[in-house]
Order: sequence, then C-alpha cells, then structure tokens
Amino acid sequence: MAPAIERQGAAGHRARLLQGVSGRVLEVGAGTGSNLPHFPAAVTELVAVEPEPRLRAQVEAAAAGAAFPVTVVDAVADRLPVEDSSVDAVVITLVLCSVPDQAAALAEARRVLAPGGRLYFWEHVRSDRPRVARVQQVVDATIWPVIGGGCHTGRDTVAAIEAAGFTVERLERFRFPEDGPPMPASPHVLGTARARAVTTSS
Ligand SMILES: C[S@@+](CC[C@H](N)C(=O)[O-])C[C@H]1O[C@@H](n2cnc3c(N)ncnc32)[C@H](O)[C@@H]1O
Repeated sequence: MAPAIERQGAAGHRARLLQGVSGRVLEVGAGTGSNLPHFPAAVTELVAVEPEPRLRAQVEAAAAGAAFPVTVVDAVADRLPVEDSSVDAVVITLVLCSVPDQAAALAEARRVLAPGGRLYFWEHVRSDRPRVARVQQVVDATIWPVIGGGCHTGRDTVAAIEAAGFTVERLERFRFPEDGPPMPASPHVLGTARARAVTTSS
C-alpha cells in the first residue's frame, strides 16, 4: 500500500510534520522508509525501529541514501532499543493504529525522549462524528484488524497521547485521502507533543 498512499498526498503530510525535527531521532515502525526523504538537514542520527523483516530490508535499502547515519533495528514500540532520555525526537506515523498496547508504546516514547524532546505523530483516529465512530467500532470488532494486520480505525490516539503524560502543542485534523468516498480510516490527526514534567509530592 505504501506507493498508493504516497500518490494520494502522504508526502505533503510527512514533509509538514517533520520540518522541525532535529538532533538524534527515533522512528517507531519505519515501514519502507517513506519518512526518510523528509527529515531536515538538522537531523544528526536516526534509529529506525521496524519489526517486520521484509519492511526492515526496505528501510535498510532506503537508509543507504540518507544524509545522516541510520541504524535500523528489529524491535517493537513497547520495548524501544535505546537508553532513557537519549533522543531529541520520536517520530511515529500510521503505527499507533496497530500496536497491541498504545499506552505501553507511548510510555516508551516518553521514556526515551530527552527533556524538552518532542513526539511527532501522524495517525488515523476515531471520528468526531458519532455515526462514523459507530461504524469504526463495528469494523474494528470484525473485519478491519484481520485484513489490516491488526489495524484499528476507532482509536482515540490524541487522548492516549495526553493520557501518557504528553501535552499536545500542535494538532491538525483532516481527512486522508482527501478525494474519494470517506472510509473508516479517513479521519487523521497530525501534530507534536511534549512530555509533561514529572511532579513529585513531598
Ligand atoms: C501502515 S505501516 C506505516 C509505516 C510508516 N511508519 C509510514 O508512515 O509509512 C505500519 C508500520 O507499523 C509497524 N508496526 C506494527 N506493529 C508495530 C509494533 N508493535 N512496534 C513497532 N512497529 C510496529 C509495521 O511493521 C509497519 O511498518
């Protein structure tokens, strides 16, 4: 599906999302490496996590042309292969719909981000229109995860990001793809979030 979604305008969303990314970056579920051409020159290093072997081979091939060092790692979102507070940005696009445990994946993103670091996300999510959300509930309980490799259409991912201890700083909601009939996976969000400081009570 990767070339099809790039033709439908994914590249523009990737470029807009990633324009402020800098420093050491970790990408969760890098897929075929579609985000790679959109990382700005301020990126110094990328750790690309991808659990699926065929996709990992593709992101490895794509990484050969990158302007910064890329390490491709066989790992999953809820067990990221880097130290605490060791990256400036975590990038996650079209992945939180299919991770088994969103809260665990987002807790890991928070663990690895250095103070002041940012989460960059682009995901399809639960519709804010109740009738569409009901359709999403039905397809998620039946066919969608089976045909979509564990993908769910009705997850409230922005709420999950906030519940994981992030403050959303920037948020766009839009339909993707823009053209054609609306589908259960059409409602999308794109944005950035920063981890809230941990407060300790005395
Ligand atoms: C729809 S693709 C998106 C790929 C890429 N991020 C993009 O924007 O084109 C979903 C990706 O999430 C990966 N994935 C699925 N479950 C995962 C998990 N638990 N941890 C990390 N990646 C996962 C898949 O292997 C696949 O690469």
